[in-house]
This record gives sequence, C-alpha cells and structure tokens, in this order.
Amino acid sequence: MTPIKESIINKKTKNKPIWLMRQAGRYLPEFRKIRKLNPNFINLCLNDNLSSKITLQPLQRFKLDAAIIFSDILMIPHGLNQEVKFKKNFGPELGSLNLDKISNINEIGFLKKLDPIYKSIKKIKKNILINNKDIIGFIGAPWTLLVYMINKHSPKKKLIKDFFKDELLINKMLIILEKFLKIHIKHQIKNGATIIQIFDSWAGLLKEKDLPNYVYTPTLNLVNYVKSLNVPVICFPRGIKNYKTFCEIVKPDAVNIDYDVDPISISKEIQIPVQGGLNPKVLLYDKENLKKEALKYLNIFKDHPYIFNLGHGVIPETDPMKVDYLVKLVKDY
Ligand code: CP3
Repeated sequence: MTPIKESIINKKTKNKPIWLMRQAGRYLPEFRKIRKLNPNFINLCLNDNLSSKITLQPLQRFKLDAAIIFSDILMIPHGLNQEVKFKKNFGPELGSLNLDKISNINEIGFLKKLDPIYKSIKKIKKNILINNKDIIGFIGAPWTLLVYMINKHSPKKKLIKDFFKDELLINKMLIILEKFLKIHIKHQIKNGATIIQIFDSWAGLLKEKDLPNYVYTPTLNLVNYVKSLNVPVICFPRGIKNYKTFCEIVKPDAVNIDYDVDPISISKEIQIPVQGGLNPKVLLYDKENLKKEALKYLNIFKDHPYIFNLGHGVIPETDPMKVDYLVKLVKDY
C-alpha cells in the first residue's frame, strides 16, 4: 500500500508521507523553461506530453509520495465553453457566463475538450517514478468554481456586492457543475488517479449561514461520489475556520488545513487523517527556522494520521533547495 493510503486508512504511521500543493510550478527552473515557450496556460494544461512531463518534474528531484496532475481547477469552465485566460501577474480572467451556451454542452463535447488531461494521467501512470506512489487527481469544489465563473477573476478578500443577485443562475450552475465534476472525477480515476482532492479555496468568503447551501451539501454529494468509486477523497475547504463541523458533515477521508487554524486544536478536535497546514512562506526562511516550523507540525501530529503538506501552494520565489531540505527533514523524522 502507498504511504499516503496507509495514513488515510488511519494508521498512525511513524514516518509521515509528504507531497506539496503546487509542487509542479514556477519555483522550478525546469518548469519555467517549458512555461516560457508555452505562453498559453490552458494550452499547456491540454498538451499531454508536456503536462505529464511537468507533473513528474518534482518527483525527479525530491522523494515525494505523490504526483499531482499538472492541470487547473479552471479547466472545468473551459470545458463548459466559458472563456478562461491566465494573465501574467494578474491570474485568471474569465469571459461572460452564458447559461444557454453552457446548457448546450453534453458529456461527449466536454470530454473531447478535456481529453488531453486524461491522456496525460495515463502517461504519468506508466512512469517508473510513480512506483508505490499516488497520483492525485483533483477538482475545484462547486462553490469555488462558481466564485470564478461569476466573479470572472480571483476575489481579493470579499465577493462582489451583487454576487447572490441571480439566484436562479446560481442554482442552475450548481446542478450543472455537480454533473460535470462527477464526469471529470470519473475520467481522472479511470485513467489512473488514485486519490481525489477537492479544492474549495474560497470557502472562507462565506458567512456561516451560507455554508450548508454552497459548501457542505455540494461537497458532500461529490465526496460520496468519489467514495462510491472506492477512491479516497481529501477536502481542502480553505479558510473555513470551523474544520470540525465541516468534517462531521462532509466526512472526507482526510482534510487539508490552512495556516490560519491552530494545529494543536485541530489535532485534538479532529479524528480523521489531517494533511498540510505549514505556511508556504516558511519555505522562504533560513533552514533553521524552516526546520523549527516543520518540526512543530510533525510533533503536533506525531500520534495522528498525518500527511505532510502546506497550508496553500508553494510560492514561486521558493528556492528548490529548501523544498529538498523539507522533504528530507520529513523523511528522516
Ligand atoms: O498543485 C499542483 O502542482 C498541481 C497543479 C495545480 C495548478 N492549479 C497549476 C497552476 C492545481 C492543483 C491548481 C489548483 C487551483 N487553481 C486552485 C486551487 C488551489 C489554490 O491555489 O487555492 C485555484 C484557486 C486555481 C486557479 C488559479 N490557477 C489561479 C488563481 C492561478 C493564478 C495564481 C498563480 O499562482 O499565478 C492559477 C495559475 C496556475 N495554476 C499556475 C499553476 C502552476 C501558475 C501558472 C503560471 O505558470 O503562470
């Protein structure tokens, strides 16, 4: 059994497995080299030769326990014919949201657009670097996708004033997203993904009273779907504050925590396997302080099923040598 799966079935393993969100990305010179030649990010994600190569880049350097597919949560709006562009130093920018246009998409059309992602997973699966390691497929949670599809770009700290104005649109979109997210999950697994992670990066923007409608219920439906396919599912409801209630209602196989929550309370309150937490900024510190912060998480979760990871993605300014140091530190703990 893979080290991550051992943690997920609740073994309080002595050695903690490790992978990192955004482990394949701009902090790696070998990624920047490919990226420079491929200015269109969506096209890069849809190039199965390159996306499989990028996915494996961090595994070539570090003894990580999983590969995460090089793709993006915004491939779903792209698959649903909403324009998605990535602008340098700005992030994603989406085109207008046209329900009629989206309603015309069927499973075949959607799969045709996203097929290179599944081909890429198939290629990754065949690589020897994946031996006894997991391939993490992922989706954006319906709420976070809705935020991008309506807001059209990353919200800073709050939603636009009129976000909930068109309730009909929101409710129809939630149904459409659930349908196509299930299709995307099914095909990632069919082609080799062994774990699914659900990113709800903007869960923290909601008031508590809105969590059941937009986070708990839609996520629970998808968690149950992944479970029905006999694959473990990890949820990351970033910024949600009350992770305990989330876990009690949604019941994922493991939960990724952000760096704003207190890991000590989490280790006491939450019984299911925990992943992540370390502030990615810590990777910019000197080795001594990086060690101190990483040991904090390792010590707190010593007797808990724990998968080492960060509280958000690796920052582009990170020195790959620090990642190397961190991976070795976790492995030698
Ligand atoms: O983790 C990995 O290594 C796998 C690949 C991955 C990417 N995006 C590649 C990427 C994953 C799992 C994602 C998920 C994703 N994408 C999320 C959820 C996690 C989170 O960050 O909260 C979100 C919100 C997105 C949407 C998105 N994609 C944003 C907001 C941005 C711009 C921010 C940035 O870092 O520039 C992206 C672009 C993106 N996705 C990059 C990568 C490697 C950088 C693209 C580049 O090279 O310019």
